[in-house]
Amino acid sequence: MTRTAMALAPDDSLDFFVDLHPPASDFRKDVLDGLAARPRVIPPKYFYDADGSALFDAITATPEYYVTRTELSILERIAPEIARRAGIGAVVIEPGSGSSVKITTLLRSLDEPAGYIGLDISKEHLIAACRDLSEAHPGLFVGAVCADFTAPVELSELDMPAGRRLVFFPGSTIGNFEPGDAVRVLKHLRQWLRTGDALLLGADRIKDPAILTAAYDDAEGVTAAFNLNLLKRIARELDSDIDPADFRHRAIWNAGKSRIEMHLEARRDVRFSVSGQDFSIAAGETIHTENSHKFSIESFSGLAEAAGLEVRDHWSDPSQHFTLYWLERGAEA
Ligand code: TRP
Repeated sequence: MTRTAMALAPDDSLDFFVDLHPPASDFRKDVLDGLAARPRVIPPKYFYDADGSALFDAITATPEYYVTRTELSILERIAPEIARRAGIGAVVIEPGSGSSVKITTLLRSLDEPAGYIGLDISKEHLIAACRDLSEAHPGLFVGAVCADFTAPVELSELDMPAGRRLVFFPGSTIGNFEPGDAVRVLKHLRQWLRTGDALLLGADRIKDPAILTAAYDDAEGVTAAFNLNLLKRIARELDSDIDPADFRHRAIWNAGKSRIEMHLEARRDVRFSVSGQDFSIAAGETIHTENSHKFSIESFSGLAEAAGLEVRDHWSDPSQHFTLYWLERGAEA
């Protein structure tokens, strides 16, 4: 693993920062390849620049986006159970370090947690989130790793407290991967678990498509702005004249694949260039930017099992809109 450990000021509230950030050329290559492919597709990990991360936070506050508040209500309800299972002095590892409310709720429910390690692809967002968390929890060991967890990330060389690890993967991020990729991501997370460690994961449930499509196309247009921000980022970072005003946000329920799809649809015939390559997209054609798969308890348990993880327990809200799973290392898949 190539890594740069950033020299931290002696008074920095972080205990370590490790940069495994993928080079910017990956963004260029993925966008050029994705726009040339049919159907056109851009991987969702590029949503999360500083603006994208802020817009995502705003999505979680819209009335239509039930996911965050439902997951939080379950987490609050099962806090004593989580504390009992995790035991004293646990180290929480959070891939996709995101919502400070969720992590604060989790840390508050644990019995003298020993450490927190945040992992995120967005460096500024990650450092800011981990510093805030450290300042809010004096004495807690806090480390930050800038990395793309869609690839394996080696944690064994990092110097962290020795307690039981609780990998926290909320927000139904697992649903943003195609099933085969989701199994690979779960296998990577499984690598971090030793016997007795656990993965606490939140996954969204299949429900009324009207509720689902509204959650990904809020009336205020925050999700639309989040989706269109990807084009702004391309224009800014990849020497492109693409105009976000030429596209509209679409959220579609794909029943066959049990997923919400987000697309950017051309409002008219458009031509633009990216890094010297020309593209044309006909009116009505789309760039596919995101999938959010929805699960039954059985379908999610199947994915977990394929990754060598065992569902030891699960908890849902009364409407069965969302489920938290407690997973441990099972037999190697
Ligand atoms: N994983 C969450 C979900 O699928 C959050 C998320 C990722 C999201 N990308 C998004 C939410 C785009 C709204 C729009 O729900």
